[in-house]
Amino acid sequence: MIGIARAAGTDARLKERVRDSVQEQGDNIDQEALSKLLNLLRYVGGDYQEPATFDLLKQKLGSAARPAHYLAIPPSLFASVVESLAKANCMNKARVIVEKPFGHDLDSAQRLNAALHAVLPESRIFRIDHYLGKEAVLNLLFFRFANTFLEPIWNRHYIESVQITMAEKFGIEGRGKFYDDTGAIRDVVENHMLQVVAFLAMEAPTGLYCDAIRDEQVKIFRAIPPLDPKHLVRGQFNGYKRERGVAPDSKVETFAAVRLEIQSWRWSGVPFLIRAGKCLPVTTTEVLVKLRKPPLDNLAGESSNHFCFRLGPGEISLSLSARVKRPGEELVSMPAQLSAVEQHTAEQVDAYERLLTDAMHGDAMLFVREDAVEAAWALVEPILADATTLHYYEPGSWGPGEANRLAVDVGGWHNPEAHSESRVLHEI
Ligand code: BG6
Repeated sequence: MIGIARAAGTDARLKERVRDSVQEQGDNIDQEALSKLLNLLRYVGGDYQEPATFDLLKQKLGSAARPAHYLAIPPSLFASVVESLAKANCMNKARVIVEKPFGHDLDSAQRLNAALHAVLPESRIFRIDHYLGKEAVLNLLFFRFANTFLEPIWNRHYIESVQITMAEKFGIEGRGKFYDDTGAIRDVVENHMLQVVAFLAMEAPTGLYCDAIRDEQVKIFRAIPPLDPKHLVRGQFNGYKRERGVAPDSKVETFAAVRLEIQSWRWSGVPFLIRAGKCLPVTTTEVLVKLRKPPLDNLAGESSNHFCFRLGPGEISLSLSARVKRPGEELVSMPAQLSAVEQHTAEQVDAYERLLTDAMHGDAMLFVREDAVEAAWALVEPILADATTLHYYEPGSWGPGEANRLAVDVGGWHNPEAHSESRVLHEI
């Protein structure tokens, strides 16, 4: 395992850093495994623009037969680093793991794909979207396809709307420069949120070949018409412009709400709403799948059923809100929740742990394929320009009120509660 960075460093310093980081994970550390890991660490200091850096890497790789190069570097360097790796003969049978963001728009993603393909085939390229490695996101696939009871209702006949909220209580955490070049749409909507849409909406992957899931993902992206700026609300939290690295007149959004449709037999006419923002009241990602009301409301009352998936962080849960009879003489209904809550357990694998291991094994199933990344950029392309009005919101609020207009006909946005509050609700 070879670490490369521009800063001067030594093998010893890298080892120290890794040891501290592993030890922060708790007391239950396998010391033998840790010392084996530390003995494998090497450090290369050098500029990514300098061929000498890559020659040194080549030396350190020694007899490594199938290196995996993990590019957790500024995105502007992806193409040139891959080219330099090839020139220094570090690409023979190698795999390349590319961090997000993969491109800035469709054109830059296509150019980056071309630069990567100039030196290695698609089967050795691993584009990271860490949402694809999350236990709770993968659980969406299992819940849908490891059960039969859902399939008859999982379509436009029974589902009225789908909402996904990715709320973050924190702000941009010192990443001002990165964030101001990126904004919420590029940072999380084009990738994480669209992947959640794909898992919720895709057809069952058939067969066991590694592209079974990826084929279905890309079909969903292609069935979504390019997003319409009229169905977008952008927001910026008050105080954002004072963050370090942010332009004083920045028009970049820290909140985005967007409404889309999927033109397929299964989903035609069902609105999918996505909302993501920084400095909102809680940190949680929630999916709310609202079912249509029963045709007669003499027993059900006004409300309908819904499925709610909490995708973390920490606790993950699935609940079905149903109506049951209120105890007593009256024949009236009341809401009840059937919930399965899973606290974080040691068996759960962290998204990055899973993805980096998969990439080293050459398993690309949970990585974004070339056609999917381009299809995702193609569909957000019309909403990337900052031409739409930017609405300001107070930190700690649910974003600009203008976002409500997108959800009027689906009963409004559902604001997730913090985890601890929802647990109390489940117990009731
Ligand atoms: C990253 C974004 O990709 O995902 C961040 O750059 C965001 O802005 C993060 O906070 C959220 O990921 P997670 O796993 O913490 O929900």
